[in-house]
Amino acid sequence: MNKKISFAGPWITQKEIDYVIDAAKNGWYETYDMHAKKLENAVASYLGVKYGIATHSCTLALHLATAALDLGDTDEVICTDFSWVATAYAISYTGAKPVFVDIDPDSWCIDPQAIKKAITNKTKAIMLVHSFGHPAQMDEIMNIAKEYDLRVIEDAAPSLGAEFKGQKTGTFGDVGCFSFQGAKIAVSGQGGIFVTNDEAIYKKASLLASMGRTDSKAEFWSDMLGYQYKIANLTAALALAQVERIEELVAKKREIFSWYYERLKDARGLKIIKEKKDCKSNYCYPSILLQDGLSLSRDEVLKKLKALNIHCRPGFPRMSRFPVFEARYPNPQAEKVEKRGISLPSAGNLTREDLDFVCDSLLEIIE
Ligand SMILES: Cc1ncc(COP(=O)(O)O)c(C=O)c1O
Repeated sequence: MNKKISFAGPWITQKEIDYVIDAAKNGWYETYDMHAKKLENAVASYLGVKYGIATHSCTLALHLATAALDLGDTDEVICTDFSWVATAYAISYTGAKPVFVDIDPDSWCIDPQAIKKAITNKTKAIMLVHSFGHPAQMDEIMNIAKEYDLRVIEDAAPSLGAEFKGQKTGTFGDVGCFSFQGAKIAVSGQGGIFVTNDEAIYKKASLLASMGRTDSKAEFWSDMLGYQYKIANLTAALALAQVERIEELVAKKREIFSWYYERLKDARGLKIIKEKKDCKSNYCYPSILLQDGLSLSRDEVLKKLKALNIHCRPGFPRMSRFPVFEARYPNPQAEKVEKRGISLPSAGNLTREDLDFVCDSLLEIIE
């Protein structure tokens, strides 16, 4: 069997190992959260935002966002139908209802026109995703939010380092949330971060993330129902090293995409998803859409690739089909990606040769 071509996985150097050893040796007693604090500062300063709260995962950061914005059971939140379910569950945890809308076929991010059509008098917020590292159309989304007085949460889980019109994703809305889960561009195994420029939102989210502890009337006093959501210091040390290398990690992903693009841009039977005008993608997950009318289904293509030890991912199923949710719209673009989307391998250990093998195999299979 040839080399395993992994879908995703990190690029770890001596720096990451040194930081973790440092945390294991020194991240205790009075400096028990030293790496977590450094991580919050490093991400905030990289993004150019005021506040960061590092969490056990991005899912929890998203929950902090929906809770800190006071969403509740009479509210609706307009949400992309194409994402990992954490995006929508973070809305549901508060009792609010996600209203799923369609995506832009060129970026697979939420379609601003679909947002506009879905607004009702219950709509309180927009939850968008910078899907697979492609920036959503933030100008249009922020204009809609302003016109209808809606809050904006950016699920920026995979998009650290991506930009819309030169501004980093995760910094446009009321809150942005990133993931350091092991398949993301910068990893710590599990981990995430909540960022905002709004002091009141930051203060509320900080309280929620640390069990509502204020020490106001006694040590260990808690003033509100909170959660234990803060990242572990050891984990933060790994994320910190990766964040300090983020430009290098983005450059590597963009190089991988450019190899795919060169080989696949004119291929018959598929469309490769490329960053749109005014957007800088971090190409966390380079992706293609198989064209209609191929003799093999998408799942058959994935199976044949897997038999060659090439590990890809299918497009997400539309969340509006899940039993816990309700579908208000059919969302045909998201349906296409659900049925015919493939994310290609872009793990940190892949070489040009590996990617050529992926492209040769894919083209042969779909021919
Ligand atoms: C778009 C999106 N949102 C949220 C998450 C959740 O991130 P985490 O695994 O860090 O909780 C992910 C992770 O896969 C994701 O892709």
